[in-house]
Amino acid sequence: MMLPTKTFAVRLFEYGGPEKLVVDEYDLPPLGPHDLLVKNLAGSVSRWDIKYRSGLLARYQIPGRTPFPLPQQLGRETAGEVVAVGSGVIRFEPGDRVVGVTHPEDPGSVEVARGLGNLSQGVAVPGHQGMGSNAQYLVRDEHMWLHLPDGADIEQAGVSLWAFSTSHRIVRDRLGVRPGDDVLVIGASGGMGQATVQLAKLAGARVITTTRQEGKRDTLLELGADAAVVTTDADRARDEVRALTGGEGVDHAVDFTGSPESLRFARDILRLGGRIVLTSEQGDASLPFDAADFMRLELNLLGVRGSRMIDMITVLKLLGENRISTRIAARFPLARVGEAHELLEHSTDLVGRIAILPWT
Ligand SMILES: NC(=O)c1ccc[n+]([C@@H]2O[C@H](COP(=O)([O-])OP(=O)(O)OC[C@H]3O[C@@H](n4cnc5c(N)ncnc54)[C@H](OP(=O)(O)O)[C@@H]3O)[C@@H](O)[C@H]2O)c1
Repeated sequence: MMLPTKTFAVRLFEYGGPEKLVVDEYDLPPLGPHDLLVKNLAGSVSRWDIKYRSGLLARYQIPGRTPFPLPQQLGRETAGEVVAVGSGVIRFEPGDRVVGVTHPEDPGSVEVARGLGNLSQGVAVPGHQGMGSNAQYLVRDEHMWLHLPDGADIEQAGVSLWAFSTSHRIVRDRLGVRPGDDVLVIGASGGMGQATVQLAKLAGARVITTTRQEGKRDTLLELGADAAVVTTDADRARDEVRALTGGEGVDHAVDFTGSPESLRFARDILRLGGRIVLTSEQGDASLPFDAADFMRLELNLLGVRGSRMIDMITVLKLLGENRISTRIAARFPLARVGEAHELLEHSTDLVGRIAILPWT
């Protein structure tokens, strides 16, 4: 069988708006002995793609990783089918359904030995240091792929691993959520929020979500939240969360907005000794905490960066058992990735992920 040597793909050559995304046919790298050639059937557009495209990632220079290069093929997620394998590959064969590792680990790194493979140095994250999934065909080392369980839907796999594995790390590792805990998810309508709601529920927690849009309240409840609080009136929102928790406040607050107002809200409705997880930030805005808060409230402030292999494997198992799912807000063919960026960047009523289907 003649293997493809070129692929339709979308690449970024200079930072700017969605018009900078160039659809064309590009050469595929030759298949090395440890590579898989994969037909990419489903992927996504994420907030990181928008940040990369706009040139905002420079300030995230990650220790031990190369800078974010141009040209780049964006796209952190992919699920597809193996077309061919290199001569040294033994774990995969043509026809296997696979999903791209969203947060690769260097097995020999000291971070993996410390249980922090998500912080691995010397790895090339697809869509960041390595070529991402905005293409019909992908060639990557076998360590960049995992088998997709039989029961898992390929489109779901292409939009779930990035958000769910990071959320798994937040819920199970950083927070250690236990049955009966109260978890507040701030900015719950995006992909990360949805995933965190579902995983916190699976861990036995009561989950309270927030949104700025009254129109999203019902959708958040449909997604599995026990309560949805609209935050346009901060005092009212704080009273609502207090009432929901019998005046105690929540055990954990996960912020997906990066806004100082959200963090202040989290601090004000946190139970004594509670934990706040930061996942993002907004420019140079300073944190709304002072040193006294850490002593007065025994406040725990935790950061998160990506997920470990154990998070990804657990999420794939849950996906195969249909115990988690991602709401897909819109689907775009590869040639219209720019429109998908526009939608994610500017929509105020979007709930869920945006799928990219390269063969439609
Ligand atoms: N640290 C990590 O490892 C990691 C990994 C993945 C993602 N992230 C980050 O996690 C965040 C969430 O990801 P996502 O894909 O779920 O993003 P998203 O789709 O933008 O969802 C975030 C939600 O937060 C709310 N929001 C946005 N800006 C806000 C503001 N200024 N004030 C209050 N609410 C605001 C919006 O909900 P409403 O309109 O309903 O209010 C929005 O839907 C992103 O910043 C992403 O970059 C971090």
